[in-house]
This record gives sequence, C-alpha cells and structure tokens, in this order.
Amino acid sequence: MSFSQIGVVGLGIMGAGIVEVFSRAGYQVVGVAESAAAVTAGQSNLAKSLDRAVSKGKLTQDQSDEITGRVTFGENFELLANCDLVIEAAPEILALKVEIFSKLDAAVKPSGILATNTSSLSVTAIANATARPTKVIGMHFFNPAPVQKFVEVISTKHSDSQVVSEIVELGNSLGKHLAQISDQPGFIVNKLLLRYLNHATQILDSGQASKEQMDAAMRELSGYPMGPCELLDLIGIDTCVEILKTIHADTKLEIDEPAPGMVKLVSAGHKGRKTGSGFYDYSAKLDVPTDPNQDVKNQVHNDLLIAYLGDCIAMEATGYATKADIDSGMKLGCGLPNGPFEVIESLGIDNVRKAQAELSERTGITAYQPLPL
Ligand code: 3HC
Repeated sequence: MSFSQIGVVGLGIMGAGIVEVFSRAGYQVVGVAESAAAVTAGQSNLAKSLDRAVSKGKLTQDQSDEITGRVTFGENFELLANCDLVIEAAPEILALKVEIFSKLDAAVKPSGILATNTSSLSVTAIANATARPTKVIGMHFFNPAPVQKFVEVISTKHSDSQVVSEIVELGNSLGKHLAQISDQPGFIVNKLLLRYLNHATQILDSGQASKEQMDAAMRELSGYPMGPCELLDLIGIDTCVEILKTIHADTKLEIDEPAPGMVKLVSAGHKGRKTGSGFYDYSAKLDVPTDPNQDVKNQVHNDLLIAYLGDCIAMEATGYATKADIDSGMKLGCGLPNGPFEVIESLGIDNVRKAQAELSERTGITAYQPLPL
C-alpha cells in the first residue's frame, strides 16, 4: 500500500506534533479537531514549533511554508474520507476514543487504516468499535513527536499482519525507530516511565525531597534531559493520572495508584505546561532545577533508579519486550542517555539486585524486591 494522505484527529500538543512529523516528511495531512477553537489551537501549536525551527536556522521560512501548505485543517470528519491512514490523538478517555473510531469507521474509505495514539488504553477495545478491526492498530508517538525518534506499534488479536508491516515501513520512512508489541496497558515505555514518575511524586508527597532536589538528582546524576516533575508537566499531569489509572486497574499494585500530589494538582487545574502551571509555574522562563543538598539527591536518585531498573528486569523476564526494545524505547522515546540494560550492565546485575533488596527492606514495599533466582 502506498500512503499519500494522512489524517490526524485531535490537535493538542501530540496531535499537532504528529501533523508536523508527517507534513515534514512530505505527506499531505488533514488535521481535524472537535471545535473551531481546537483547530485554531492546533494550527498555533504547529506554527510555534515551525517558527522555533526557523529561528534556530533548522528550517528556512520557505520550507516552513511548504510544510504548512501540505496541511488542511477542519472540524468535519468527512475531510478524512480519502486518507490512507488516520491517527487519533484525542484525550486519554476510552469512551471518547470509541466514539471517535465509530465516526472514523463511517467517514474514512474502507481501505484506510485507523490508528490510535493512546498512551495506555486497550487498542482491542478501540478496534472493536469499528467494522474493520483488522485495520486498527496502535501507533504511539512520544512528546515532542517531531523530536523523539521512537514509535510503539501495537497490534491486537484482530490486526492484519500486512497492515502492521505497512505501518512499520511507513514509520521507518519517517526516520523513526519502531517496536512492535502486543496490547498491554502502558505498552513498553509508559508502563516503565509512569511508575517512575509516580514514584517521584510519592517521594515528594512524603516530604523526603523537594521537586527541585528530585529533578536536579536525575539530571545531574543520570544525565536525564529532564527531571520527573519537569517531565510530568511536559506530558500533562492529567494524562499521567489517566495512564496510571489504566495501569493500576491491571496490576492492582499500590505503587501504581496515582499519587495524591498529582491528583491534587489536576483538581486545582494545574495540569502542567499546557495550563501554564503544574509542579512548576510557566508564567516566566524556568531556570534548570538545582539544589546543593548532595545527600538527598544521592538518596532519591538511588531509589528512583533502582526501582525503575527492577521494573525493566521484570518486564524483560515476562517476555513482553526485549532488552533491545526496552533500551531503544527509553533512549529514543524519552531522550535518556543510556538504556536501562546498559545501566544494569555497567552497575553489575548483582549490585542492582542487592540495591533492590535494600530498597524493598527500607521502604517495606515488596514490589521492589528482586525477582527470585
Ligand atoms: N516541538 C518540536 N521541537 C521541539 C520541541 C517541541 N515542542 N521542544 C524542543 N524541540 C526541539 C528543539 O527545537 C531542539 O531541536 P534542535 O536540536 O534541532 O535544535 C531540540 O528539540 C532540543 O530542544 P531545546 O534545546 O529547546 O531543549 P532541550 O535540549 O531542553 O530539549 C526536550 C527539550 C527535547 C523536550 C528534552 O528535554 C527531552 O527529550 N525531554 C524528555 C521528554 C520525554 O521524556 N518525552 C517522552 C514523554 S512520554 C510520552 O510522550 C508518551 C505519552 O503517551 C505520555
């Protein structure tokens, strides 16, 4: 199948980012959102991202204009009729996605593939809302979509293997690295990342460290591009709460219950960068978080890192994902300097297991224990 026209439904930060990825790669793109205001916001998200690239000298104004010229925006699903692929990037609410897919099924030509950019919801449940479940898959991008090079391709028990290979080929043509996985809550990256972000908020809630100490710890001691509180604000704390609810419904583990610190911020309307405030206030330019207390930074860095490495070991041991896909996902999806299995290799697996046992004993949380040998 050759792809020429791509549709994107939902034009928030992720949707607009996906529009940019495809229009930059030369595809005709149709961006649809539910209201005139949402369409205008999507156009402005795209314009801001392109302006940033022009001001940095990464694109000329002519190239930016060509990219914009390949995109048509509107509110009507009928605009999507001739798309070869439509990617849905609406908020993380299953009922909403089901409704959108049923409308897409009616509007898009029968040969069109329908993909969801869901962060954690059941792709199977979404596919079941259509009369073409063999042509429904997950295509999960990472924020900012034009920057992060990883895409998870999620197939369900209905997915046609030909459709999956065509999507993988398409993704590769965008310069992305793709991992194929089955339909499980949180897939590879979000399952690991959201537990880490929740852990950080639990530490913050307990008063053991401040957000600046935690963010500085992960930036300075592991070279992460952002600390956990900064990243929660980038993703959207409301989105993180929704992803955690889906993961928690599956694992039933207390450590996956959305931390009260996140829930409170969302209730107060502080959902992160998109609302102007979250853990941090974005009304003025933020300095890189820093803190002189090395002991606290060492402790939170140890605890966050060891719990996360333990989760990676457990995920690989279940056979859900390979070490290579987990390492690629965390490096290319989240910009981490090293994959978790590269870190485990450098620390030594016996040292990681000892540290897991110590963390579990100190906190009383059995989920942090190393796997039985
Ligand atoms: N849109 C487009 N491009 C952007 C961008 C945006 N919103 N934000 C940054 N960029 C580009 C910049 O133009 C710059 O490009 P260049 O290298 O070609 O000049 C590059 O990214 C670096 O940007 P900056 O120098 O301005 O800023 P930083 O070096 O601080 O990088 C960052 C910003 C790329 C966001 C980096 O901090 C990062 O990678 N953070 C981690 C983000 C992450 O973990 N994402 C995954 C979240 S999980 C997810 O999305 C899944 C979902 O389901 C929840």
